[in-house]
Amino acid sequence: MLTQRLILTGDPAHDEPLIRQAAAVIRAGGLVAFPTETVYGLGADALNPLAVRRIYEVKRRPAWDPLIVHVINRNQMRLLVREIPPLAEALIDAFMPGPLTLILPRSEWVSDIITAGRDTVAVRMPVHPVARALIEYSQTPIAAPSANRFGRPSPTNADHVLDDLAGEIEMVLDGGETPVGVESTIVDLTTQPPTLLRPGGIPLEAIESVIGTVRVFGERPAEGTPLPSPGTAPRHYAPRVPVLLTAPDPNTLFGAVKDALTQYAIVGVMIPEGWLTPDDPRVVRFNWGPWGDWDTLARRLFEGLRWLESKQVHAILCPLPPAEGLARALRDRLERAAHEVNS
Ligand code: TXA
Ligand code: MG
Repeated sequence: MLTQRLILTGDPAHDEPLIRQAAAVIRAGGLVAFPTETVYGLGADALNPLAVRRIYEVKRRPAWDPLIVHVINRNQMRLLVREIPPLAEALIDAFMPGPLTLILPRSEWVSDIITAGRDTVAVRMPVHPVARALIEYSQTPIAAPSANRFGRPSPTNADHVLDDLAGEIEMVLDGGETPVGVESTIVDLTTQPPTLLRPGGIPLEAIESVIGTVRVFGERPAEGTPLPSPGTAPRHYAPRVPVLLTAPDPNTLFGAVKDALTQYAIVGVMIPEGWLTPDDPRVVRFNWGPWGDWDTLARRLFEGLRWLESKQVHAILCPLPPAEGLARALRDRLERAAHEVNS
């Protein structure tokens, strides 16, 4: 299959017919990768089980890992859930459309394939204009995981999508770089108190300012506790090379790169602006951005990991951001990426 790449310009007159073409592919049961404000999604008609099944095949995604359904508005969301409890209403008012996903009791319209047999469904209302237009023109909710091969860093531009999925999907809508760069925050509202299943584009602190205390999944889980969200499995975001995390200060990173050079032939570094690395031709540097500017660092995180991999480095060193604000999402993705090496 030849994957069509439709390049958008941001001019509605130019883009509308192209997005309508993509909507026709969705209506016909095909797969379209499209930009959201977080990362690119791999979309299918959520009400067409055969189309949804293909998402799992193409991604090589295990059947136990459920999908997020993307909706245009509250009415479409009502179709998919049995109820929208008051806490959900409050979060919708505050953050939707935007990079937030809610876990709610599912309705009869949602197939077992989407939920991996669970009694809950993940719903999200994206704010990116291309994602919104695609859902609107398709006239159906769109099931979409991130448009990467399972276990790879999420795609933040159309090249990343094609690197993983070219030849296996009908189309990619190329809307350039995604503005947030890390996935949506996932909050499970079927528990009391609500549970943060995945830190993301909306900071935990902002969520708590609206609905009060939220339990953070993953902070010291008891031995043998079943994972409440399959995507919380530690190895979910694994690049092809080992990721080594360091304390977030320039001297520690410098020393860690020196040490790594005694073990690895080529060392990649996610390097904050103005920090130094040993002057050695075997060091490959990705200029990440100003430390503390989490918006910029989030936007460039997956790009950096993929770029360093493409340079054939044998290990990637990276300072670890703190567990606060948007940085919590970066820290989470990096800890998952590093897990493979440390265990
Ligand atoms: O920003 C995003 O959320 C992106 C864009 C494309 O919208 N999507 C995304 O999807 O990150 P995905 O499939 O890569 O991650 C969705 C996560 C998975 O970890 C999955 O296990 C979890 O959501 N999930 C989906 N349905 C669930 C449910 N019913 N209960 C618990 N977790 C669920
Ligand atoms: Mg994903």
